[in-house]
Amino acid sequence: MGNDILRVRVARITREAEDILSYELVAAEGGALPAFEAGAHLEVRVPGPGDFLRAYSLCNDPEETHRYVITVSRDAKGRGGSSAMHERVREGDALEVHAPRNNFPLLFARSYMLVAGGIGITPLLSMARMLERTGANYSLHYCAREPGRTAYRELLSQAPFTERVRFSFDGGDPSKGLDVKELLATRLPGARLYCCGPAGLMKAVRDAATLHRWPREKVHFESFTAEGTSAATGREEQGFEVTIRSTGQVLQVPAGQSVLNVLRRNGVRIPSDCEAGTCGTCVTRVCDGQVDHRDTFFQAEPAGDQRMLVCVSRARSKKLVLDL
Ligand SMILES: Cc1cc2nc3c(=O)[nH]c(=O)nc-3n(C[C@H](O)[C@H](O)[C@H](O)COP(=O)(O)OP(=O)(O)OC[C@H]3O[C@@H](n4cnc5c(N)ncnc54)[C@H](O)[C@@H]3O)c2cc1C
Ligand code: FES
Repeated sequence: MGNDILRVRVARITREAEDILSYELVAAEGGALPAFEAGAHLEVRVPGPGDFLRAYSLCNDPEETHRYVITVSRDAKGRGGSSAMHERVREGDALEVHAPRNNFPLLFARSYMLVAGGIGITPLLSMARMLERTGANYSLHYCAREPGRTAYRELLSQAPFTERVRFSFDGGDPSKGLDVKELLATRLPGARLYCCGPAGLMKAVRDAATLHRWPREKVHFESFTAEGTSAATGREEQGFEVTIRSTGQVLQVPAGQSVLNVLRRNGVRIPSDCEAGTCGTCVTRVCDGQVDHRDTFFQAEPAGDQRMLVCVSRARSKKLVLDL
């Protein structure tokens, strides 16, 4: 077992909303768990034939050391990781997780605006708990489809959150939901904005932040999916060409499609796991071309142009040659 792998026990499972369950995890051997910061996530080895590794944000207060709480929304269109969490994991089970990692740290600010969409509430809930405890100035804007599908609605409707949290229910039509342009028109001095949610919401927040001249370094995003990564990075997507070195095969990667999916459709199999640029499994050597890194895995250790995570990263040049 690697150094950062922890064995935890599922102490409690709670239904938080339709198709959304939370899992309270404690150290399998008892005692304290490694500390985490608001915004951090765990990679959980989901039991079952798929042997999935899936990232889940910690949503409890980072002050707690006796437990990690994660919340999982079942994604019926996914490859089965979230369904396996719902169907296979039971109270009392042991799970393997990687120690918490944080790609979405809460930096110092004089005030905070938190914008959550759907299950994107999880890292922001941990932040809200911490900001509440430390007496910070913050507001949480929580967008969801309908009350019955809104995790932690009851908790966030009560003291101490009542005055801080605003819900927006759009019934599935974003034009009827939160007016992001209007919300971002007011920027308190020294404010930071944190947003996590579906790609459409993150794009709307990014566009409104640009319109109202929020400094780029004060606006922070976390994406749960590869699809949301370009909304989170705010970078335009261009098509480019990929060459497979061993066969000379040339493939087009259009805007909106990942290198991984283009390779897969053309019969080139690359091991993958999170498909969101967090786990490092799909790392591929690059022989030629310039890489546009969009992952969060290589943040601490710059990857240069020699390797890339093909699930999310793209090309800055017109062509890439992959060592496959
Ligand atoms: C940092 C981080 C934190 C996260 N925190 C949470 C959290 O707190 N709660 C939570 O519920 N989830 C969270 N997630 C998402 C979670 O890791 C899983 O992605 C999610 O549970 C779905 O897993 P899955 O295996 O069911 O679906 P996946 O297979 O991962 O599919 C997810 C989506 O990707 C698309 N997709 C899947 N396969 C393909 C394909 N081959 N081609 C094109 N599109 C495809 C589909 O649209 C699908 O809806 C987080 C992700 C990250 C990166
Ligand atoms: S599959 Fe996890 S980083 Fe690409």
